[in-house]
Amino acid sequence: MYRTHTCGELRLPHKGQEVTLAGWVQRVRNLGGMTFIDLRDRYGITQLAVTEDSPEKVKETAGTLGREFVIQAAGTVIERSNKNTRIPTGEIEIAVNGLTVLNAADTPPFTVEDESDGGEELRARYRYLDLRRSPLQSALKLRHRMAQEVRAYLDFQRFLEIETPFLIKSTPEGARDFVVPSRMSPGEFYALPQSPQTFKQLLMVAGYDRYFQIVRCFRDEDLRADRQPEFTQIDCEMAFVEREDILQTFEGLAKHLFRSVLGVELAQAFPRMSYADAMRQYGCDKPDIRFDMRLHEITGNVKGKNFAVFDTAEYTGGICVTGAAGYTRKQLDELTEWVKRPQIGAKGLAYIRLAADGIKSSVDKFYTSGELQQIAAAFNARQDDLILILSGAKKKTQEALGSLRMEMANRLGLRKSNDFAPLWVYDFPLLEWDAETQRFYAMHHPFTSPKPEDLPKFYSPDKADIAQVNANAYDFVLNGTEIGGGSIRIHDAKVQQRMFEVLGFSKEEAEYKFGFIINAFRYGAPPHGGIAFGFDRWCALFGGQETIRDYIAFPKNNAGRDVMLDAPAKIDDVQLKELGIKN
Ligand code: AMO
Repeated sequence: MYRTHTCGELRLPHKGQEVTLAGWVQRVRNLGGMTFIDLRDRYGITQLAVTEDSPEKVKETAGTLGREFVIQAAGTVIERSNKNTRIPTGEIEIAVNGLTVLNAADTPPFTVEDESDGGEELRARYRYLDLRRSPLQSALKLRHRMAQEVRAYLDFQRFLEIETPFLIKSTPEGARDFVVPSRMSPGEFYALPQSPQTFKQLLMVAGYDRYFQIVRCFRDEDLRADRQPEFTQIDCEMAFVEREDILQTFEGLAKHLFRSVLGVELAQAFPRMSYADAMRQYGCDKPDIRFDMRLHEITGNVKGKNFAVFDTAEYTGGICVTGAAGYTRKQLDELTEWVKRPQIGAKGLAYIRLAADGIKSSVDKFYTSGELQQIAAAFNARQDDLILILSGAKKKTQEALGSLRMEMANRLGLRKSNDFAPLWVYDFPLLEWDAETQRFYAMHHPFTSPKPEDLPKFYSPDKADIAQVNANAYDFVLNGTEIGGGSIRIHDAKVQQRMFEVLGFSKEEAEYKFGFIINAFRYGAPPHGGIAFGFDRWCALFGGQETIRDYIAFPKNNAGRDVMLDAPAKIDDVQLKELGIKN
């Protein structure tokens, strides 16, 4: 038997027991005649003590130990004279009477401790060492707990967990596909699923009624802190449901996870907001509502005072930053540069400062103090507040204000990771017009149903009408992150065909790509809908982090590479030939 206990288990009541532990050497401290070894495993750290009185062989072996050696230690649990209150096992240590090196280790390239001295790239290359560190172990334990609780809740709700294939045909979720060449059909390719969207709909046609899967999805898209090329969804679908059924069921899931994983009781119903309201009030379709700082439109209030910028703008609006009137000229100049960055794209920034010594503004050449007061009143601003104003094309300016709002909240520390504000956003536009390719794209995906009241517009020959159609789609937002998205689906073959027509597919193209699902809809498709949650994102948020990488055991870097494996990699000519890619 390698061990009688784990390294996180022993306490004072074990005093006097003979135990055997196994694990990794975290640290060896040699204090003259005594050697202390911190022995680590997944469960914790226990101190081993080798003293003058220890057997000669033990002393000898202790002298050879280095960081990350794998050892087995036998001995007696004794009370420590020098207690460590920072670790749960800190009241005891093991007086070692047997010590075996199970495997020696090279000196690790960085310290395997909570605060490691290794840079990101180095730690990624030695991911298996990084994964020994307790912050990463906690992250993966949280992920495990989440997965178990998701299964428990959905099982209780009578969802069936059903697997769907990875080697499939393209599913249009808006990203590029990863493809796999077929050896048996030279020149042909499978695509890896961007999501199991079509399969879960086919399972509804097949009568499975409630489906879920914790499933890997693959998307070849530009990566960010909350995006990986392969990531995991909690993918769900239900038959005979309306939007309300879905929101209730999955609000239940969210509440269950909050309760069982975080111990947070969310008694209230989650707030809901239409896409239009979210854009108008927050300049964003996934607003962080932990703080207020809403957008106010002042387009009408500021026109007619000979300030050309505001006079000609489609939209002028701003945010009121509570208590920020003390912002210096230099800080405001720096903020102006910030909004001018290409990612934000504003031309400039106007401000009104409600300082103790009066109202001051970057536009006071054009507005009297009384007029500025009136503008400030539109924001319900009070003394010590700072109003930041942008102007330009409506949607772009709202979005820029939305980004500025988040930036100010970050600067003011308003986005606390232990504070949770869930939100449903619904009624998204069905389609987005892309000027470059001169065609519509589905904002969610092509299987999303138009709102029934918008069907006449959906069938209109006029693009302007079609552009106004809303989707029966919804997102689940947590603290400004889109955690989940779904919709009520089209279940009528004719409506689905019209959708493909609107998206610019010819009949033949639609038949080639999606014939299977249009056909399925002809054989009794029930009304259905569903949602998928970004599992990695949800775990990261529950762990208080914005980047999902540490909640994935073996993630890719920002360039989509696995630096440990050094993948992607070239394959040899023989393989290329076999796959029919090279002659
Ligand atoms: P959607 O594309 O909105 O919907 O994806 C659902 C959720 O998955 C997460 N997500 C990601 N997480 C990490 N890395 C990525 N690259 C990534 N892309 C998406 C997000 C997102 O909200 N089939 C539909 C769902 C449905 O309609 O039921 C779908 O995939 O948190």
